[in-house]
Amino acid sequence: QEQKRISDIFSMSPEGQSITVYGWVRSVRESKQVAFIELNDGSCFDSLQVVVDRAVISQLPQGLRTGASLRAAGILAESPGGKQPIELQAKEIILIGESPEDYPLQKKRHSFEFLRQIAHLRPRTNTFGAVMRVRNTLAQEIHSFFNERGFMYVHSPIITTSDAEGAGAMFRVSAEAEGAENPEFFGKPAYLTVSGQLEAEIYAQAFGRVYTFGPTFRAENSNTTRHLSEFWMVEPEMAFCELEGDMQLAEDFIKALLRAALDKNHRDMAFFDQWISRGIIEQLEKVANASFEHITYTEAISKLENAGKKFEYEPHWGMDIQTEHERYLAEELVGGPVIVTDYPRDIKAFYMKQNPDGKTVRAMDVLVPRLGEIIGGSQREDDYDKLLARIKELGMDADNYWWYLELRKYGSTPHAGFGLGFDRMVQYVTGMQNIRDVIPFPRTPGNADF
Ligand code: 4AD
Ligand code: MG
Repeated sequence: QEQKRISDIFSMSPEGQSITVYGWVRSVRESKQVAFIELNDGSCFDSLQVVVDRAVISQLPQGLRTGASLRAAGILAESPGGKQPIELQAKEIILIGESPEDYPLQKKRHSFEFLRQIAHLRPRTNTFGAVMRVRNTLAQEIHSFFNERGFMYVHSPIITTSDAEGAGAMFRVSAEAEGAENPEFFGKPAYLTVSGQLEAEIYAQAFGRVYTFGPTFRAENSNTTRHLSEFWMVEPEMAFCELEGDMQLAEDFIKALLRAALDKNHRDMAFFDQWISRGIIEQLEKVANASFEHITYTEAISKLENAGKKFEYEPHWGMDIQTEHERYLAEELVGGPVIVTDYPRDIKAFYMKQNPDGKTVRAMDVLVPRLGEIIGGSQREDDYDKLLARIKELGMDADNYWWYLELRKYGSTPHAGFGLGFDRMVQYVTGMQNIRDVIPFPRTPGNADF
């Protein structure tokens, strides 16, 4: 008797094969002679119908209820009901872990707020199961995408002493156990990284094309549906590359990720399309097959000014584009992803390459409907003197960036890269409203429980 996962079973034609499966009970329904058990093992969206004689069930101890874990063995047959193509006619059921009546996930719809409070059980729900399978597909696709294009995967550090964005939104790291004797464990103040970019630049200056993919941390007090204190970021960096090449990579990358989810997670995507965000499959198909629009910041602002729409924040040149503006640009003006370039230098990070106009930098953000910014990137300042002047101008401590400056001294190259917020990408693909519901254990202001 072969042990099978349910995803394998659904791809078989039922010819009375003897098999064994393991999983968790989603529901039990009893008729006069038989019981129907919906069994799910997480391998795919759908549950397997297990049909078993009530006589077999009655020999089991109490606790064969929703939430229980079990082993079922029997033969595969066509399902006469027709609701599913295949069922397991079980000869033997072994209850592995019983489930008392107070199991919190009964067969009904629970609110996402409620599910967040039971982060240890929500992976067993339809929605979260589908989210996690899509998240996995996207994560795997990131590695194949870059691997196929000759990018090296670099592990950038989590603990750092430099503020990569110069934005002062870092979590301090201190050594509790050593506290009394050695409060400064690393000899100077250390923090959780906000971005692996600066280290990625170091490696791009040796390997040409690299990417990082790991957790990053922001101590911003942003309680929104698209901000996390701990989120995952993908950061490619390319030497001998300018802003145009960077934008092309960003577009190809987003499209490859959409393609992967659409092709590899049909059933999960059909669920999102039906229950979470109507029409999302068609919407993403369109994006995956069309070119992204490009627009400069200056053009974007004037379009917003002339939109004849009342925004919470009045648009004007020099301001940071707000989420409401980003969404308006992507949803109303373009009707799809849009890449905004050449932002004012004063609202962007110190490392971006300055344009000859002296006012703007070679920045690019990719904005998408529903979310706004999903990617932030730029061509980097590769001129030693200009970079040093900018660091000083901003009142940053140049000594902290000595190595970053030296990269501009020894074999400097035009180079560019970007950061994709991975969790926002999962939100974009699944249509999920809240970023807290696309990551296993969301960290937000006031919440870092299990
Ligand atoms: O625009 P950001 O801050 O850019 C950087 O960190 C650059 N160092 C990237 C680079 O050029 N290598 O962040 C990049 C992306 C954003 O576009 C957004 O998708 C995501 O990271 N992001 C967040 N996602 C969730 N929660 C937060 N608090 C986020 N902050 C940024
Ligand atoms: Mg940004």
